[in-house]
Amino acid sequence: MFKAVLFDLDGVITDTAEYHYQAWRTLAEELGIEGVNRTFNEQLKGVSREDSLRKILSLGKRENDFSVEEFARLTKRKNDNYLQMIQKVSPADVYPGILELLQELKDSGIKISLASASKNGPILLERMALTPYFDFIANPKEVAASKPAPDIFQAAAAGVGVSTDEAIGIEDAQAGISAIKAAGSLPVGVGCKEELGSDIALVPRTDFLTLAYLMEIWEKNKILN
Ligand code: BG6
Ligand code: MG
Repeated sequence: MFKAVLFDLDGVITDTAEYHYQAWRTLAEELGIEGVNRTFNEQLKGVSREDSLRKILSLGKRENDFSVEEFARLTKRKNDNYLQMIQKVSPADVYPGILELLQELKDSGIKISLASASKNGPILLERMALTPYFDFIANPKEVAASKPAPDIFQAAAAGVGVSTDEAIGIEDAQAGISAIKAAGSLPVGVGCKEELGSDIALVPRTDFLTLAYLMEIWEKNKILN
């Protein structure tokens, strides 16, 4: 049996992936950069604040237009706008089935760890009253490389004293699925195969994420390997 579940946050626990998208689109518009649409946004999901801005500037061929200070001001501007948007996040915004899953995992003694690239992760868990469920929150400021590198999932597993190959990772982003695979954990994607690939377990919505489902895919994977 798996010993831990490593959760992404934005787009898995709640709908903040949408707010990140809106905030980046606004910043891109202010900079006169076109093309930050939902398709392009798939490349931003799971990616750190700084790497996201690099991708947007590169899209607009403006990667050399800003000094280090200006770059920092732009990431701050996006984050300030995002922070405004998450002011109203409350326990009512937790995605369907997530609270029930966290409770089931807790009751079964399976460790719960956060593997989010977001520096706003702790604030959001607080706002949704989910902090008590988490045994550990990996700190994205302390990992060397952001998703798709495995570091944040390795940190999340280590934080609960579990080896990565004894853990399941749950993600809604391409970069996140790559990170889980690179860490050697078992990925479960929330989304469709066009975005996340057809080689992993996928659920279309979070209410499909039950302990019974996770146990089933864990057993299936054991047989296949
Ligand atoms: C990830 C989001 O969880 O966190 C990305 O999917 C976001 O969209 C990244 O850029 C960093 O978040 P933050 O809140 O630290 O800017
Ligand atoms: Mg996500």
